[in-house]
Amino acid sequence: TPIALIGAPTDVGAGARGASMGPEALRVAGLQPALESHGLSVIDRGNLSGPPNPWQPPQGGYRHLDEVVAWNRAVHDAIHAELAQGHLPILLGGDHCLAMGSISAVARHCRAVGKKLRVLWLDAHADFNTSTLTPSGNLHGMPVACLCGFGPDELVYLGGEGPALRPDQVRQIGIRSVDPGEKRFVHEQGLEVYDMRYIDEMGMRHTMEQALAGLDADTHLHVSFDVDFLDPEIAPGVGTTVPGGPTYREAQLCMEMIADTGRLGSLDIVELNPALDVRNRTALLAVDLVESLFGKSTLMREHQVRRR
Ligand code: ARG
Ligand code: MN
Ligand code: MN
Ligand code: MN
Repeated sequence: TPIALIGAPTDVGAGARGASMGPEALRVAGLQPALESHGLSVIDRGNLSGPPNPWQPPQGGYRHLDEVVAWNRAVHDAIHAELAQGHLPILLGGDHCLAMGSISAVARHCRAVGKKLRVLWLDAHADFNTSTLTPSGNLHGMPVACLCGFGPDELVYLGGEGPALRPDQVRQIGIRSVDPGEKRFVHEQGLEVYDMRYIDEMGMRHTMEQALAGLDADTHLHVSFDVDFLDPEIAPGVGTTVPGGPTYREAQLCMEMIADTGRLGSLDIVELNPALDVRNRTALLAVDLVESLFGKSTLMREHQVRRR
């Protein structure tokens, strides 16, 4: 399957400026040649456009709602067009509010072709706030809630029909910062969360076995990779760092085990903030991990010991 790269250079949903430079930093870090070096065919569609960041305080619990809607409509249409052509889209964010556009498009595509959808949400944050629960008004803290139907109509109905997701289609991994009201809501809605305590106690291998359980040939797997998932010691270039994230090796294993399923159908790479990075190292790390997500491994398959 050809891969399509789609840049969405905006930070309208974030609390810090700079994620708008994410797409270019990923290109400079060599995302396309890295994927091509593994025999994949990659088309770079360039960047989408949308409104500038007005940098205003929240209104009615949302910051920059109109701008977030405009960007997400553009993302939705672009991602849906790629899926309809049989391509595997990679959204280059941009802040995490853009997952509303990408995942609503993936859900719409899965409805049309009769596939099941599983979303892996790799993040330090649950991103399950609503306008009444949010401490910030920043819409990058609300995409999972909006995708599940808890948000303004313009965002909940991005993909037509009803909400894009049921909470039981989502698996969250790496979570370590959840706001107080958000925490109650996560429990109320029964989100399946593999937080850092779980990963510490059970290990990344068992965590991923659980999160990936039940995938079959009819399942489209979408990975929403918020770069702040990673420990800030190895990934400083994000706007909302939280200490105590997965190490380099844990993150590699996470990506490798997703690759092994053979079900990856679409990907977001979001929240990379080059203004806060050190010599583009976070972008380089993201590229390295995405190579593993697409099946890069140290040895050829026939030389690997049988593990499972
Ligand atoms: N929970 C905080 C908020 O809602 C932070 C969200 C961070 N989200 C992200 N995608 N980085 O404001
Ligand atoms: Mn390589
Ligand atoms: Mn996050
Ligand atoms: Mn996030």
